Amino acid sequence: MFKRFRRLRINKNLRDLVQENDISKNDFIYPLFVKSGEGIKKEISSMPGVYQMSLDKILEECKELQALGLNSIILFGIPAVKDSIGSDALCEHGIIATAIKAIKKDFPDMFVVSDLCFCEFTDHGHCGILDMEHETVDNDATLEILVKQALIHAKSGVDMIAPSGMMDGMIEALREGLDSEGFENLPIMSYSTKFASAYYGPFRDVAESAPSFGDRRSYQMNPANRREAIAESIEDELQGADILMVKPALAYLDIIRDIKENTTTPLAVYNVSGEYAMLKAAAAAGVIDYERVMMETMLGFKRAGADIIISYHAKEVANLLNKR
Ligand code: PBG
Ligand code: ZN
Repeated sequence: MFKRFRRLRINKNLRDLVQENDISKNDFIYPLFVKSGEGIKKEISSMPGVYQMSLDKILEECKELQALGLNSIILFGIPAVKDSIGSDALCEHGIIATAIKAIKKDFPDMFVVSDLCFCEFTDHGHCGILDMEHETVDNDATLEILVKQALIHAKSGVDMIAPSGMMDGMIEALREGLDSEGFENLPIMSYSTKFASAYYGPFRDVAESAPSFGDRRSYQMNPANRREAIAESIEDELQGADILMVKPALAYLDIIRDIKENTTTPLAVYNVSGEYAMLKAAAAAGVIDYERVMMETMLGFKRAGADIIISYHAKEVANLLNKR
């Protein structure tokens, strides 16, 4: 006797009753790129629908997001001036600090996450202070300024910080720094398993953050390694991360599953710029049913074990869900 799976599939209502995973607007964090200036809303050619926006436009965008039912954003900054240590990120009047304050003032219900890194703020485009002798980033010197950056965001009223620089010991350093200044309740979402990926290409156009020399392989992870990927997230969980992350998402669904099974901390995935750009390009070429492929991709993340999806598709997904 064989099992008749079809009994559960023939009726649409029954299909819905036994569906194991679903996509909800509550699953998403939407990335926003804040550029200094006014009246700026500049689309990125490789990422249709994604813009660099000045703060006035960002505030309009927040209104639109809330109307769609999206209540979580992650902020990236494109400062007016970059230098060797990313001073704009260390100043209470810097682009992100200013944006956090303005958004929280006008939209107190918006959950505002800040990406914590230096590559958008340094003139060399690396994620921290340089160690020229080894042609990499000075891990421990970067930890010190990372804590300063975190405290500036915290004092500006951010709801969660998301360190993305892959420095060793960053969660422990941030937790200690935040706690000692009275921010015991500020959660940390760690980019805990972040690969050195070519899928970040379009992001570096938007964020104007491509490294001016070398690459990020001395601090981001080798895409060939599975056990190291699991160990990195376990390490951040032990240091006190409140949410873990796998990035990119699409080529790393196995890693999402592995980390989900080896940890008990909520897990986010970052559906990165290159993944978004590929779907957009395929849609523009007329070779896929864009909306169905997008939703199937989101479902894949959920099935793999994602609790949270950071995605440039979030608005399109919300629009579709609202029409259902
Ligand atoms: C900064 C950062 C990057 C992304 C998120 N935070 C780029 C990088 O590491 O080069 C990539 C996001 C994307 O590609 O959408 N550290
Ligand atoms: Zn960085």
